[in-house]
Amino acid sequence: MLVLLLLSVLGAARTAGALLSSYSLPPGVTLTDGEEFEYIVVGAGAAGAVVASRLALAGANVLLVEAGGDPSFISRIPAVAMALMGSEMDYRYETISNNVSCLSSKDRACLVSRGKCLGGSTSINHMMYIRGNREDYDALNITDWSWRHMEPYFLRYEGLQDLDHLPISSIPYHNTTGTMKLGFFEYSNNPWHLRIINGYEALNFPCNLDVNGVSQIGVSRIIGYTYNNERMSTARGYLGRDDVKRKLKVAKYTRCTGVIIDDDNVARGITVVHGPSNATLRLYASREVILSAGALVTPQLLMLSGIGPADHLNEMGIPVRVDLPVGNNMTDHTLVLVVVKVEKETNLLRGIIDSAGKIFSLLADILISRGRSLGSIGLNDVTTFVNTLCYDFDKRQLTKNSTKCELSTTQFIHQYAARGLLVIGGPILKQRIGLAASVINQLSEINKNYALVIISSLVLQPKSSGTIRLASVDPLQAPAIFPNYLSDERDVDEMVRGIQIIEQLTETLAFKTAGASLLRLELEGCPSSSRDLTAYWRCYARHLTYSTFHSVGTSALGRVLDTRMRVRGVARLRVADAGALPQLPRGNPAAAVIALGERLADFLLDNNGD
Ligand SMILES: Cc1cc2nc3c(=O)[nH]c(=O)nc-3n(C[C@H](O)[C@H](O)[C@H](O)COP(=O)(O)OP(=O)(O)OC[C@H]3O[C@@H](n4cnc5c(N)ncnc54)[C@H](O)[C@@H]3O)c2cc1C
Ligand SMILES: *[C@@H]1O[C@H](CO)[C@@H](O)[C@H](O)[C@H]1NC(C)=O
Ligand SMILES: *[C@@H]1O[C@H](CO)[C@@H](O)[C@H](O)[C@H]1NC(C)=O
Ligand SMILES: *[C@@H]1O[C@H](CO)[C@@H](O)[C@H](O)[C@H]1NC(C)=O
Ligand SMILES: *[C@@H]1O[C@H](CO)[C@@H](O)[C@H](O)[C@H]1NC(C)=O
Ligand SMILES: *[C@@H]1O[C@H](CO)[C@@H](O)[C@H](O)[C@H]1NC(C)=O
Ligand SMILES: *[C@@H]1O[C@H](CO)[C@@H](O)[C@H](O)[C@H]1NC(C)=O
Repeated sequence: MLVLLLLSVLGAARTAGALLSSYSLPPGVTLTDGEEFEYIVVGAGAAGAVVASRLALAGANVLLVEAGGDPSFISRIPAVAMALMGSEMDYRYETISNNVSCLSSKDRACLVSRGKCLGGSTSINHMMYIRGNREDYDALNITDWSWRHMEPYFLRYEGLQDLDHLPISSIPYHNTTGTMKLGFFEYSNNPWHLRIINGYEALNFPCNLDVNGVSQIGVSRIIGYTYNNERMSTARGYLGRDDVKRKLKVAKYTRCTGVIIDDDNVARGITVVHGPSNATLRLYASREVILSAGALVTPQLLMLSGIGPADHLNEMGIPVRVDLPVGNNMTDHTLVLVVVKVEKETNLLRGIIDSAGKIFSLLADILISRGRSLGSIGLNDVTTFVNTLCYDFDKRQLTKNSTKCELSTTQFIHQYAARGLLVIGGPILKQRIGLAASVINQLSEINKNYALVIISSLVLQPKSSGTIRLASVDPLQAPAIFPNYLSDERDVDEMVRGIQIIEQLTETLAFKTAGASLLRLELEGCPSSSRDLTAYWRCYARHLTYSTFHSVGTSALGRVLDTRMRVRGVARLRVADAGALPQLPRGNPAAAVIALGERLADFLLDNNGD
C-alpha cells in the first residue's frame, strides 16, 4: 500500500508510458445534435465496452458514449491498483448512512468507488477473475439463465494464458484464445504468501489451484485480469483491438442525461452533455438503446426517464411512464477488515527508511525497466473461499460433511502493510479509504514497530439490501445511494464466524512462529473484548465495514428486465451491466458482467433484434 504515495509522482510515471507494451484506445468522436446511429450504448465499462465492440464487429453502426476519457497510464500497473481508488478515474460516491455499518468511516457512511473512464471499473478494480459458483446462476430460477446458459459466454471471452499451470481437471472449464487475456500475477516474494497458505492448510482448507474449475473451496493463488504484467481491462481487451477501433465510434467525456422515449413507449435515443462546452445534444438510435452505466447510474437514468417506482417518481415530479422496481434490491459484497500484527522490529527509523526506499525503488522500476514487482499485487492474489458453517471451531478443522460445504459463504482477502507504511501513508489512507482518524492512529502506532497482515472477511451471499433513488432531478448530480449494509443480523453472524476463523488462523504454527497476533482495536461504543469477545467482534464488524464495490440487482433480470434484457414496458431499450444481475455471484462480479455484455450482443444479433 506504500504505492499509494506513487500518486504524488504520477506526472513522472506518465513519461514512462512508452516503456510498457503499447496498445492504443480509440480516438474520441465529436457529435452533432440530431445524429443517428443503429445502436447507442451508454457506458464503456465491464459490459458496455463488450456489447458495443461485438455489435460494431458484426458491422452495425454503433455509438459508445462514455462519461470519462482514457484511463491514465498508471492504471496499467497491477502493483498500484489500490492507489486508483479516490483518483481522478474514480467517481468515489458518498452514501447515506444506515447507522449500523461503516461506523468507523467519516459520517458513518461508506465510500463507494466506481471507474470513470474507458473500461469503467475494470480499469480501476483489483483484477481478480472469479466466475462464482454454478449454483449462483441455477438458483436464479429464471428461464434461460441457468449456468448451462451462461457458461458459453464466460468461455467466449476468456483468454487464459496459464492453463498449463492448472490441473488437468481444469481444462474443460477454460478457453485460452478469447479476447480478455488472463493469468497469474507476478509472485510477490513476500514470505507471508506461503505462510498464509500453510496456515489455512493447517486448518484443513484445501489448496485449490483453480477456483473457476471443479471446486471453489479452499485457499488459492488466483488468476487475474493481467497480461504481460499489465492490467487487462475491457478497454484493452475489447476497445483496444484494431478491428474494433476501425469500426466503433466512441464519444468520450460525454454524459448521458436520459433516454428519449416516444408516446408509444419506444426508446428513440438519448440526451447527452458533450464536449468542452457542455453542449446538450439529442442522439437517435434506429435500432436500440443499451444502458450500461453500472448498477448505480443506470437506475438513475431510468428513473429520470420516467421508469421506476411510481411513488418515488411522483415525489420527484417526474411523469411515470412505467412503474417498475428500479433501484430496489441492491446487494453488495461487504467486508470487515481484520488486522494481524506480525514481525516485531524495534528500529523505527530504519523501518521508515526501508519503506521510503521502497517507493523510490518502485519508481525506479517504472522509469528504468518493467521491474519485476510491478506486475504483482502483493498478497492480494491469495484468496480463500469457505462455507463457514462447515468449519469445526472445536477441532480447528474445515469439514466436508455436507454437499452445502461446496457452496462458499465467505471469501478471505489478504494484504500486507510493511512496517512504517501507515506512518507515511496514514493521511492518504484516511482521505482515500475514509478510515476514521482514531483507527488510523491506533494502527499507525503499532505499525511503527510491526508489519501488519490485513485479512478481510467478505460476506458472499448477503441478506441485507439497499436502494438507489434520485437525490435530484438534475442528471449531473449523483444518485442517492443507500447501501444499507449489515441491516440483517445474519450478515453480522457471517462476518463474526469469518473473524473467528481468522483468529484460529493466527494461532496456527505458520503464523505463531512469525509472531502473529490479532489486533483488538479500541472502538467507540464497543464492549470491552476481555468481557465479551463475541459481542466485541459483532460491534467491530459494524465499525470496520467496507464496500467491495460489487453492487448488483438495481435493474435486474426478472424484476425490471425480461429474459432478453429488455426493460419491461418499453420497446428498444435494454440494460447490460452489474445492475442486471438479480443476485450476487459467490465471487467478484466482473467476470459475470462481461459475460452479460457478450450475451446481450448475441440477443441483439441472433434473431434480428429479439
Ligand atoms: C475498486 C474496485 C475494485 C474491484 N475489484 C474487483 C475485482 O477484483 N474483481 C472483480 O471481478 N470485480 C471487481 N470490482 C467490481 C467490478 O469492477 C464491477 O462489478 C464491474 O466493473 C461492473 O461493471 P458495469 O459494466 O456494471 O459498470 P462499470 O464497469 O463501472 O462501467 C460503467 C461505465 O459507465 C460510465 N457511465 C456512468 N454514468 C454514465 C453516464 N451518465 N453517461 C455515460 N457514461 C456513464 C462510467 O464512467 C463507466 O465507464 C471492483 C470494483 C471497484 C470499483
Ligand atoms: C442515522 O442517524 C442520523 C443521526 O442521528 C439520523 O438523522 C438518520 O435518520 C439515521 N438514519 C437511519 C437510516 O436510521
Ligand atoms: C421457479 O420458478 C417457477 C416459475 O416461476 C416456480 O413455479 C417454481 O416454484 C420456482 N422454483 C423454485 C425452486 O423456486
Ligand atoms: C474461445 O475463444 C475464441 C476466440 O474468441 C472463440 O472463437 C471460441 O469460440 C472460444 N471457445 C469457446 C468454447 O467459447
Ligand atoms: C462543463 O461541465 C463540467 C462538469 O460539470 C464543469 O466542470 C465545466 O466547468 C463545464 N464547462 C463549461 C464550459 O461550462
Ligand atoms: C426486493 O425488495 C422488495 C422490497 O424491498 C422485497 O419485498 C422483495 O422480496 C425483494 N425481492 C427479491 C427477489 O429479493
Ligand atoms: C458438519 O460440521 C459442522 C462443523 O463441525 C457442524 O457445525 C455441522 O452441524 C455438521 N453438519 C452435518 C450435516 O453433520
